[in-house]
Amino acid sequence: MTAPSPAVPAAPAAADVLDRCRSLVRPALAEAVGRLHPWVGEMASYALGWCEVGGAPVAAPGGKGVRQALAVLGAEAAGAPGRAGVAAAVAVELVHTFSLLHDDIMDGDATRRRRPAVWKAYGTGPAVLAGDALFALAVETLAAAPGGAAGVRLLSAALADLVRGQADDLLFAARPYLGPDRVRPEAYRALAVHKTGSLLGCAAALGAVLGGAPAATADALDRAGRHLGVAFQIVDDVLGLWGDPAVTGKPVHADLRERKKTFPVLAALDSPGPAARRLAALLESAGDPAEAAALIEAAGGRTAALAEARRQVAAVRAALAAVPMAAPAAAELEAVLDYLVGRDL
Ligand code: IPE
Ligand code: MG
Ligand code: MG
Repeated sequence: MTAPSPAVPAAPAAADVLDRCRSLVRPALAEAVGRLHPWVGEMASYALGWCEVGGAPVAAPGGKGVRQALAVLGAEAAGAPGRAGVAAAVAVELVHTFSLLHDDIMDGDATRRRRPAVWKAYGTGPAVLAGDALFALAVETLAAAPGGAAGVRLLSAALADLVRGQADDLLFAARPYLGPDRVRPEAYRALAVHKTGSLLGCAAALGAVLGGAPAATADALDRAGRHLGVAFQIVDDVLGLWGDPAVTGKPVHADLRERKKTFPVLAALDSPGPAARRLAALLESAGDPAEAAALIEAAGGRTAALAEARRQVAAVRAALAAVPMAAPAAAELEAVLDYLVGRDL
């Protein structure tokens, strides 16, 4: 192995970037959660991995904090200090936590990050309430920040898209695998942009707006985040079919059991040849998921999904390259991108 040339600075490690941003945001996030009704605040803290049921402090695995990092880096990309993006970071982290609380109820998922989901731990009604509270807290936090009014408009637009994506996600589960009513890969891309990309794009754009960026920079970051959302969602789909649950923390084949129309499945069903028809019959009859995963791979679903994820990552890079950005933030955004979608993609 050759030593890197001293002229080329070492690429920042994504874990360090995420840690730095989480540390910067944590006090403001804790202060905001501390303003909630105590019971609701406990549910929020539980969801964030800060406490057990009953409120005893614990350091459970929380989220990676990708959205809060994007908000901080968005502000820094605009040439502002990271703290200018903290209100944006708090808002998007609260909205993300809210969306997961409600998503686990919608999906009937009993666990999140290897712990009982909030609705399992506290009950469905309380979990709905905690989600509502987090949403309101996010808007309140952002509205109180300098530049917050423009921020609230961006966040509302992202939320409208997120709802659109969740609606299609739920509706698509009831659609057939074959025939004129089947879900096409293009419809999946729109779903993923809405469900996942909208908040990722909003996070980076919000940070940029609070950091005083011109509209072109905020737009470019928003576009980058939307493509990142699709890439991330497709990689998530691939891991859900062929990943190791010990690594992903998610049960294998859950998407198949829930009739989720994930990209590898749709791409496989769109392929010519007998594997697609056999796959459709197997999926319609809720047959063996391991056999379905093998058929999806044989019909080219995995290859097509990874190729699409690569195209989306290229679109992220093109969006980021389209506007000037402060150098350290640009490199750190790149590190987070690699981390999220996998360096080997
Ligand atoms: C969750 O989507 C996205 C939102 C809450 C908007 P998924 O249902 O696909 O994600 P996981 O697998 O539960 O995290
Ligand atoms: Mg879910
Ligand atoms: Mg869902």
